[in-house]
Amino acid sequence: MSTTWHPQFLFTVCQTGAEAALKHEIAAQKLDLRPSYSRPGFVTFKFDQRCENPQGFQLRSTFARTWGFSLGKVSGAQASDLAFKSWQLPAMVEALTAIKPSDLHVWERDRVMPGEEGFEPGPTALAAEVDAALTACTPVESLRSHHFGQQGASQPNTWILDAVVVEPCEWWLGCHLASRRTACWIGGVPPIQQPEDAVSRAYLKMTEALEWSALPFVRGDICVELGCSPGGAAQALLEKGLFVVGIDPAEVDPLVAEHPSFLHVRRRSLDVPKRDFQRAKWLTADMNVAPGYTLEAVEDVVLNKTPSIRGLVLTLKLADWSMASQIGDLVKRVRSWGYRDVRTRHLAFNRQEFCLVALKSRAQRRIKRGTSQRRIRTDAPHQGVPGKMHVEKSE
Ligand SMILES: C[S@@+](CC[C@H](N)C(=O)[O-])C[C@H]1O[C@@H](n2cnc3c(N)ncnc32)[C@H](O)[C@@H]1O
Repeated sequence: MSTTWHPQFLFTVCQTGAEAALKHEIAAQKLDLRPSYSRPGFVTFKFDQRCENPQGFQLRSTFARTWGFSLGKVSGAQASDLAFKSWQLPAMVEALTAIKPSDLHVWERDRVMPGEEGFEPGPTALAAEVDAALTACTPVESLRSHHFGQQGASQPNTWILDAVVVEPCEWWLGCHLASRRTACWIGGVPPIQQPEDAVSRAYLKMTEALEWSALPFVRGDICVELGCSPGGAAQALLEKGLFVVGIDPAEVDPLVAEHPSFLHVRRRSLDVPKRDFQRAKWLTADMNVAPGYTLEAVEDVVLNKTPSIRGLVLTLKLADWSMASQIGDLVKRVRSWGYRDVRTRHLAFNRQEFCLVALKSRAQRRIKRGTSQRRIRTDAPHQGVPGKMHVEKSE
């Protein structure tokens, strides 16, 4: 990459409604970035001083689904004109002298909260049209054979051009380095198909959480889920080959309840005895309660009931967006239980809530990347869900 390219603007994409939370968390980091243009689900920032090292720049954010350097916008009525103008933008021309993009990501900003009006983030027909128009007149050789949505994810550590369809007649262009897993996905949304028999949206949230966090699960590991009803998240965990102990006083969909690797403990989490957590390695929680209560329930398990939980995947509700300012304290509390690697992300399929993932140590992540699953398993495989014989179902 040429060292003479110093971009001046950053673009970020978030869920509609999360813009203020996103601006606050970025302001708190004192990065010398000022909010510039903002629409629901799309916020740009201006660097006080041009970015000196675009290749090394990292934005740490819970609420930015994805981000990159903004190269400006085009507007007009005809897709072919907009596409032509996109490649002529001065910042685009400048960027293309510095980076060799290997892929193009085109997506529409969210218009409503995921799960509302049948909307879920992901590829759309309009994005496909914009992609085709841009590809048809691209001066970038490597993009001429590009097809919309051909690959679910781009190659890591390559430069990618972005086009965010803010309105059908207003496109914002940008680029980013795919230096993190989420940056390889178009618009930061992992390519997930919800199966027709998914019993709840939680299937999407859990699948995305697992894709993002890449936790080193091994088939046959035991996962406890606090707040498992009706069972979409458990379905995603069962698909990965885990044994799931689901804790919830409410009913679980028969599709999940009757799965041979699922056990329903029909109680409130604080009333579940120690023995039901035996040999569990993972804990997930998605309870429709305040984050403080969810953490209390999780703390009870990891500090009082079993020391064996290696990692956590928690959905923490934000009763209102201003609660986003408490995320730092929630993370500290999880760290105080001995989880050193704690990350947070407002998942594309989350609603007014966010996902917190914790591992006892970062080394656990490295082990999964560097070796085969067989080699990381050091304990004897278990014989089945512990307690399957003795757990009292309090229906
Ligand atoms: C958002 S739903 C969970 C969705 C679920 N994870 C799925 O995959 O479909 C929240 C659930 O939390 C449960 N819940 C609330 N408080 C709880 C507690 N103290 N212990 C266990 N479950 C609880 C509720 O009964 C409700 O079923």
